[in-house]
Amino acid sequence: MAQINPSILSADFARLADEAKAVEGADWLHVDVMDAHFVPNLTLGVPVVEALGKATGTPLDCHLMIEDPDRWAPQYVEAGAGSVTFHAEAAAAPVRLAREIRAKGARASMALKPATPIEPYEDLLPELDMLLVMTVEPGFGGQAFLDIMLPKIRRTRRLIEKHGLQMWLQVDGGVSASTIEQCAEAGADVFVAGSAVYGTDDPAAAVRALRRQAEE
Ligand code: DX5
Ligand code: ZN
Repeated sequence: MAQINPSILSADFARLADEAKAVEGADWLHVDVMDAHFVPNLTLGVPVVEALGKATGTPLDCHLMIEDPDRWAPQYVEAGAGSVTFHAEAAAAPVRLAREIRAKGARASMALKPATPIEPYEDLLPELDMLLVMTVEPGFGGQAFLDIMLPKIRRTRRLIEKHGLQMWLQVDGGVSASTIEQCAEAGADVFVAGSAVYGTDDPAAAVRALRRQAEE
């Protein structure tokens, strides 16, 4: 079943609690944490994640676009995140980190920037609950979908099947009514959508429409 995770990066940051409630019915709320070092943008951190978790019944899917996730990621689990994604390019010890996230009680996930291949990480897949294939350069919402990532999504799905894993395959960046079907066809099953949800008049309806499209 397709999961739709609205990204609050595209929401009104002055009304985060209301914006979270506006997408109740979504599977997860995607929270983009940026540190102005790993990516050229700065968003929010542990205290905001903690407050958001109390403001919504929707579980939080925290995407950490930060340096030194080995140090910081566990704090996001403690703050209430149900899933924590660190970047492969930033983690010093990804296996140890994934195990720590799981041991603290959250789903462990790893993200790949567009230029990072999946193949060097094949043996690591069993340590993860989700793999995120970025379909834009991380840092900003509203960018155009990179369709040259579709082969990487397909190769990742094949590796997941080869190892008989139950893990999820997430796509993030430029996912919309015009790109979600290609992602689903390539093997993604968790879809992050920022502008395609919060850029509409009815975010909850946008979530439902995207889910229908992904499941067609
Ligand atoms: C980008 C973030 C995305 C972003 C997606 O670095 O990781 O989650 O919010 O926004 P859209 O869906 O507008 O591309
Ligand atoms: Zn994201």
